[in-house]
Amino acid sequence: MNLIKKMLVAPAAVLALWAVTAQATTDEAIAERLKPVGEVCIMGEECKGVGAVAVAAGGAARTADDVVAKHCGACHTAGVLGAPKVGDTAAWKARATNGVDGLLANAIAGINSMPPKGTCADCSDDELRAAIEKMSGL
Ligand code: HEC
Repeated sequence: MNLIKKMLVAPAAVLALWAVTAQATTDEAIAERLKPVGEVCIMGEECKGVGAVAVAAGGAARTADDVVAKHCGACHTAGVLGAPKVGDTAAWKARATNGVDGLLANAIAGINSMPPKGTCADCSDDELRAAIEKMSGL
């Protein structure tokens, strides 16, 4: 009798364990499938998640207007700290002794009160150049 009981209980326990494991695997698989493929990343803001990095890297470059509005305008709209004003082409021209290339180099490195890359640390050179051309009209 005792032996028969054991023979019945053991497979039942194995079966129960299997059922629990199978359930856990299924839950994990479902969670994996439900995970978003990529997360939305808003340009200029901190990106989170693996997908977001890909979106930012593969995304379209910001327009000059975006960069100016978000980063450069703070100083260049009103001429804060002696910054050449947006649209004041004469003021920009006076600085552009080495052309837009020279302006770009100084914008990247920073010059006096002008912070490196004009606070747009993740701007590409092309994005900075476009912003400079936009502000200066050069
Ligand atoms: C914190 C204020 C500030 C911000 C933000 C800022 N600038 Fe400037 N910028 C200045 C000041 C001040 C100057 C003038 C520096 C000087 O010659 O003394 C300047 C000068 C420049 C010049 C002229 C450099 C030269 O060779 O004379 C360029 C080009 C420029 N900024 C580009 C940018 C761009 C592009 C951005 C945005 C991505 C930006 N700046 C954002 C303050 C700022």
